[in-house]
Amino acid sequence: MDPRTTTSKREEGRRTTPRGVSRRTFIKSAGILAGTVAAGPLLSACGAIGGGGGTSGPLKIGLLLPYSDIYAVLGESITDAMKMYFEGIGNEVGGRTIEIIAEDTQLKPDIGLEKARKLVEQDEVDLVAGVVSSGVAVGLRDYFHENKKLLIIANAGANVLTRAKKSPYIFRTSFSNWQPNWPLGGWAYENVAKKVFVSAPDYGAGHDMVSGFLNSFQAMGGEIVAEPQFTPFPQMGDPAPFITEIQQAKPDMVYCFYSGGAAVTFVKAYGEFGLTGDIPLVCAGFTVEEDVLPSEGDAALGAKSGLHWALQLDNPTNNAFTAAYKDKTGKDANVFAMQGYDTARVIAESLNAVEGNTSDVDQLIGAIEAVEFPSPRGTFKFDPATHNVINNVYVRDVQNVDGELHNVVIDDLGEFADPGDDSKG
Ligand code: PHB
Repeated sequence: MDPRTTTSKREEGRRTTPRGVSRRTFIKSAGILAGTVAAGPLLSACGAIGGGGGTSGPLKIGLLLPYSDIYAVLGESITDAMKMYFEGIGNEVGGRTIEIIAEDTQLKPDIGLEKARKLVEQDEVDLVAGVVSSGVAVGLRDYFHENKKLLIIANAGANVLTRAKKSPYIFRTSFSNWQPNWPLGGWAYENVAKKVFVSAPDYGAGHDMVSGFLNSFQAMGGEIVAEPQFTPFPQMGDPAPFITEIQQAKPDMVYCFYSGGAAVTFVKAYGEFGLTGDIPLVCAGFTVEEDVLPSEGDAALGAKSGLHWALQLDNPTNNAFTAAYKDKTGKDANVFAMQGYDTARVIAESLNAVEGNTSDVDQLIGAIEAVEFPSPRGTFKFDPATHNVINNVYVRDVQNVDGELHNVVIDDLGEFADPGDDSKG
C-alpha cells in the first residue's frame, strides 16, 4: 500500500492489528488447530518433553543468547537487564524463586538448537527466553512449536515468526525486523532524499530490514541507485570495498542495518572514507544504538535512525530503568537491555497471574497475551493476532549532547504492528 494513501501512519499500524483476537482465532490462523500439530520426535506419551512446567520449586528460566562473536554485547545487555529486573522484585515470581540457566548460542542455528534441547530436556526449564539472531530464532521455531514449549524472543526480529511461521508457543517482546524500517522508509523519502544506496549483512535480518525500508520508500516514488549491497555475516571482513562501492554509486542517501561489532566496523569506515556529513546516513536504529556509539564516535554524527526506544525518552519507567542500569553496569542502557528488562517483566507478570503454575501451557499463554504495562518504550502490549509486541517508532538523530554522543528523538511516527504477512515488505 502506498504510505501516502493512509489516513495516518499511526492508524495504519492499528488497522493491521485487530485487538481482542481470541486464542482460538490465533490458533486457527496459524493453521494448527489441535490434531494438526506435528508431534515432535521427542514427544513423550503424555505429550510433552522435559519435566519443566510445574507449580513449585524454583522457576527455571533458560536463556539462549550470544555471549561471543559480533552480537556478544547484545546478549550481555539482555542478561544484565533481565537479572536487574528480577533482583528488583526479590528474585521471586508466583511464589517461586527464579533460577536462570544461560547458554551461549553464538550466532549459529545448530548450536542454538543443541542448547535449546539441553535446557528443555536436561535442565527441565519452565520456559526459554532470549535469542538475538534471526537465523538462530528461525532454527528454533519448529522445536518449540512442535513440542509446545514456550519461547519468549527478546531480540531476533525474523519477520517470518510473526507471519507464515508464527506459533502460539512463541512470543516476541522486541520487534519484527519490519517494524522500525517500514515507517522509516516513508519518513526518509519525505525528509532526507529520493535516491538511496542500501547496505546490510547477508542473512535473514539484513534482508528483512532492507525489504521493509524499501517497500515504503519505493511506494512513495523513491529510487535505489544500485542493487542492494549484502555483506558477509557475521564477519564483514575489510569494509573498504563496500564503502568504495557506495562512494562510486554517488547516492543522495545511504540506508543500512548493522548491529554490534559489524555496526562499529561499517560506521567507522563510513567516517574514515569521508562519507559522514557528505552522504546522509539513515539506518535501522541498532546501527547507531547506545551500545556502539562510544566506539563509532563522530563517524556516527548526524545519522538518522528508526527505533522503538531512545535513551532519553522522558517517561517515569524509562528514567528509572536507565538510572538503575547505569548504576548496575556503569554503562548507558541500550535498546537490547530495554528489551531484556521488558522480557523479565512479561515473565514476572504472567507467572504472578497464574500463581507460578507453568504446568498448564494454555493458561500461561493466555496470561502472557494479557500482559500490559508501562515500559521504558511506552505502553507494552502484544498483538494477540501474532504474539509480536506493538511498538511506537521514533526517528532519532545522533547528536553531541553535553560532550557525549546520543540518539535524540526528532520525530514520533506512531504505533506500528507487524502486518502479519509479506504485503508490505
Ligand atoms: C536479528 O538477527 O534479528 C537482529 C540482530 C541484531 C539486531 C537486530 C536484529 O540489532
